[in-house]
Amino acid sequence: MGKQSGTGQSDSKSGEPVTVLVVDDDADICVAVEMSLTYEGFEVWTAPNGKQALARLDKEEENGRAPAVILTDVKMPEMDGLTLLGELREREHAPPVIMISGHGDIDTAVEAVKLGAIDFLQKPIDQNRLVVSVQNALRQTRLAAENTGLRRQLSGKWELVGASAPMAQLRESIARVADADIPVLITGENGTGKEVVARNLHLSSSRAGGPFVAVNCAAIPNELIESELFGHERGSFTGAHDRRIGHFEAAHAGTLFLDEIGDMPLAAQAKVLRALETREITRVGGTRPLAVDIRVLAATNTDLPAAVEEKTFRMDLLYRLNVVPLRVPALRERPTDIPILAAHFLDEIGRRTGRRAPTIDADAVGVLTAHPFPGNVRQLKNLVEAAHVFADDTITRDDLARILEVGPALSVPEGTALPLGEDPFQAETFETFKNESEALFFRRKLEANGGNVKRTAENLGMQRSHLYKKLDRYGLK
Ligand SMILES: Nc1ncnc2c1ncn2[C@@H]1O[C@H](COP(=O)(O)OP(=O)(O)OP(=O)(O)O)[C@@H](O)[C@H]1O
Ligand SMILES: [Mg+2]
Repeated sequence: MGKQSGTGQSDSKSGEPVTVLVVDDDADICVAVEMSLTYEGFEVWTAPNGKQALARLDKEEENGRAPAVILTDVKMPEMDGLTLLGELREREHAPPVIMISGHGDIDTAVEAVKLGAIDFLQKPIDQNRLVVSVQNALRQTRLAAENTGLRRQLSGKWELVGASAPMAQLRESIARVADADIPVLITGENGTGKEVVARNLHLSSSRAGGPFVAVNCAAIPNELIESELFGHERGSFTGAHDRRIGHFEAAHAGTLFLDEIGDMPLAAQAKVLRALETREITRVGGTRPLAVDIRVLAATNTDLPAAVEEKTFRMDLLYRLNVVPLRVPALRERPTDIPILAAHFLDEIGRRTGRRAPTIDADAVGVLTAHPFPGNVRQLKNLVEAAHVFADDTITRDDLARILEVGPALSVPEGTALPLGEDPFQAETFETFKNESEALFFRRKLEANGGNVKRTAENLGMQRSHLYKKLDRYGLK
């Protein structure tokens, strides 16, 4: 790769994240370090003291972003470097920290290392030493990421539960294509486990140590999709206050999961296709292309060949993504998995609450296996969660009946504003009434459209992204 990759040194295809946070009250130092690191292809954020550095980290975390390395001065107003280091140590996924000191103070160095700093740079900062130090730190991040990847795999968070023949087949297909580094198109109805399959593909691939970036194409407003996917340069459009890397870049050396791909606007489809073919992207407002090394997985519950016929989906993109098709079977095609999944979700409740997992009696299992589950595994999961609320130690047929009676439980996620079957007219205040009727409205419309968000939005004459926000708000997705 002769080209600058925008993800650290151009020769690295090993997946280092790209951002470095520089904390120093001396603006000249910040500028000098920023210049050297930007030249090397890193993205640089700066902060004038520890307090503002933490604030920046919090703000970026909300957008799912974090620096790969932090460089910090020792003596600063508001919050000094050692305190910052201590604060970072309290956090779960703190990046490695390199200390910068103008005082060559051995005691501080020892103290910093004790607190977990991985290197120490003296002012004036030697440029070569700076770059080497940052690269060492990145190597450390990568190893840590590999470890978490493996740990997650062991912890079974994304375990694909089920013992039916269709599931055994699916598992076999996953094993066969996981390491092939080719695109996989995952299809299946709502709630069948498409994301679980995507996660499994990633975790079983050689990219397991790299990032897994999931993008819900349906939830991004049309006018933002390009900047979300490819990033943008500062000032490239109104509101682009900062340079921002997109999902393609964030997934470098890992897996990019394009969820609900059928909802991607045509204009974006063309750009995605080009990016997949050239393995390069250009940030919005940017001039030079950046190489990205990603594996793409896509998922959809829409009929893409039909969408191609209707000219809402590009045929060439379908071919590109559909190198290996994986179909996740509906739950009603594998009813023998229902008791196994139910038991799995009950175990999960037990683990989460720290109490003995509730059980389910044979009668209730009978009710479950006979249920059609149009919302598939997600609906089963929600049903089990809801039944557990009514049940003592054992979920019975009655507990299930209470929930199933009040209509199809398309969704009863935790934190739903509207419990199933509630009547908005019982609301005490106008505010509650408004919220509850709105939630009920969207739930009914979604049910009427078989849980298909795109179709619901079309029938309601609403923007998809707007509908998504509503569904999110009422826990209906
Ligand atoms: N085989 C499975 N084993 C364990 N959990 C599963 C399985 N399949 C689905 N789930 C759980 O069911 C829920 C829905 O799964 P997931 O989000 O992967 O479905 P999906 O097909 O992507 O749905 P949608 O079409 O709505 O995006 C998640 O909570 C997931 O953890
Ligand atoms: Mg999904």
